[in-house]
This record gives sequence, structure tokens and C-alpha cells, in this order.
Amino acid sequence: MDHRPLNLPDALLAALRQARRAVVLTGAGISAESGVPTFRDAQTGLWASFKPEELATPDAFRRNPKLVWEWYAWRRQRVGSVAPNPGHAALVEIEHRVPEFTLVTQNVDGLHKRAGSRRVIELHGNISRTKCFKEDVLVGQWNETGEVPPRCPRCGSWLRPDVVWFGETLPPEAFAAAEQATADCDLFLCVGTSAVVYPAAGLPFTALRAGATVVEVNPEATPLTAHATHALRGPSAQVLPALVRAAWGPIPSSPARGTHS
Ligand code: APR
Repeated sequence: MDHRPLNLPDALLAALRQARRAVVLTGAGISAESGVPTFRDAQTGLWASFKPEELATPDAFRRNPKLVWEWYAWRRQRVGSVAPNPGHAALVEIEHRVPEFTLVTQNVDGLHKRAGSRRVIELHGNISRTKCFKEDVLVGQWNETGEVPPRCPRCGSWLRPDVVWFGETLPPEAFAAAEQATADCDLFLCVGTSAVVYPAAGLPFTALRAGATVVEVNPEATPLTAHATHALRGPSAQVLPALVRAAWGPIPSSPARGTHS
């Protein structure tokens, strides 16, 4: 990994300070330094022989609901045992400094809200919620009979995580709100996403068409890199705090702001 000091151009810092309407799109990379494996990283342990694309689909669930439920139970347990990192905390700071701010995340881990971000649009759902596979309604409680997956107390169908699987459509209001905020923004940060899964991957291009400054934060190049106004190569838990400090000064570390180290 490259640990040279970041080159933060004056134009980038000015765009941050002058931003009135900011949108941030995050993907699995922002949670990497919290210890949540990115979606396309090699699966580990028990799950090493499965591809996420073969587990995170309605067909996979129909074929083997127990396997898919157990995979999500494992991921839920992982997410529950980690904490937000300084990258999440830096986005909380940006929200405090820019008058209109929208955080759009593809992550289902809930770490942005735990860090203290307030205006968060979860495009792909949240792994901590459960819904009925048949009726698509949220279910808060059910009887643990030992059956896996458990059954919906209303209709007896299987329960499933409230996340968006491959081949499923995004919650329409959530995506419409993300698109609207993006079309109106003057600053767009694209953090820790491979920028290949549409429709979310289209948002930075909407921002570019709207004339916004588009900043990518990622240790690797993506299909967005060549188009971004500024591409910052590095891990978000280092790059985002450095960006906030360079633009606005030291980051307060009060727990009320959700800063974790
Ligand atoms: N900081 C920033 N970015 C990082 C870091 C880090 N420390 N570590 C890895 N990354 C980058 C990788 O270079 C990669 O570009 O994070 C990205 C992770 O990519 P994916 O695993 O493809 O995750 P994401 O882009 O969120 O996937 C989008 O696809 O499968 C669906 O629903 C799933 O939400 C997911 C969506």
C-alpha cells in the first residue's frame, strides 16, 4: 500500500470548502478497515467455496434457503462485532460542514448510522432487518423453532434479510432520492466502490453531467477513475480524514460525533 503524503490540489480543497450540496456514494471499501470483507474479496473460512453472486439472489434462496440464511447470519454476526472507522467518522464531519448533505450507500452494514451520519440513503437495504420472502413486509419478531430459515409469523413463508439481491430492483423512493440529490449537487464523493454495479454506478456520471466536482477515493482504479475530477488513490480511513483536515482543520474526536479509532 502507498503511504506517501496525499497530493490534495488547491482546487479540490476549494471545492470542498465551497460545497453547498454534497452527495457521497459509498461501497464496501469504506467498511474494509472496520474488518468487513468487501463483496468481491475472496470469501474466507466456511464460505470460501461460494461466490457472493451465487448466494445473494432470489433463485439461490429458493434453491437452498438454509445456506443463504446461514451466510447472512454469519455476515450479520461479523458486522455486529466491528466498529465504524475514521473514514466513516470523516463523512460525519463533512455532513456537519456542508449545508445540504446526502450519503448514499450500497452497504448493508449500518456502519454509517452507527458512526453518526444522519442523512443516509441505504440503496441495498440493511442486513440487520428481516422481511417475509413471500409478502415482502418487514418482520420484527418470530418464533425460533430451530427451523432455518425461520418462518414468517403472518403467512408461514420463509424469512429473509432485508437486502437487495442480484436481479432485484432497488427501493424506488430511495433511488429516486439519491438521483435527485445527485442531479442537484455541486460536490460528489465516490468512496470505496468498484463502480460497476448499476444503477448506483451511474450516479457519479449524473453528477459529472450536472457540473459537480467528482472525487473518487479508492486504492484501485475503477471505471470512474479516468472521468473523475480528482482521483485519490488510497484507503478511505486514511484519505477521508486527511481530506477533511486539509479543507477544514482538525477533526474533533468527541464520541457524540461518533468518532472511532
Ligand atoms: N478504502 C477504500 N476503498 C477500498 C478499500 C479501502 N480501504 N479497500 C478496498 N476498496 C475498494 C476496492 O478497490 C473496490 O473498488 O472498494 C471496492 C469494493 O468493491 P466491491 O466489493 O465490488 O463493493 P461495492 O462496489 O460496494 O459493490 C457494489 O455490488 O454485489 C453488489 O450489493 C452488492 O453493494 C454491493 C454492490
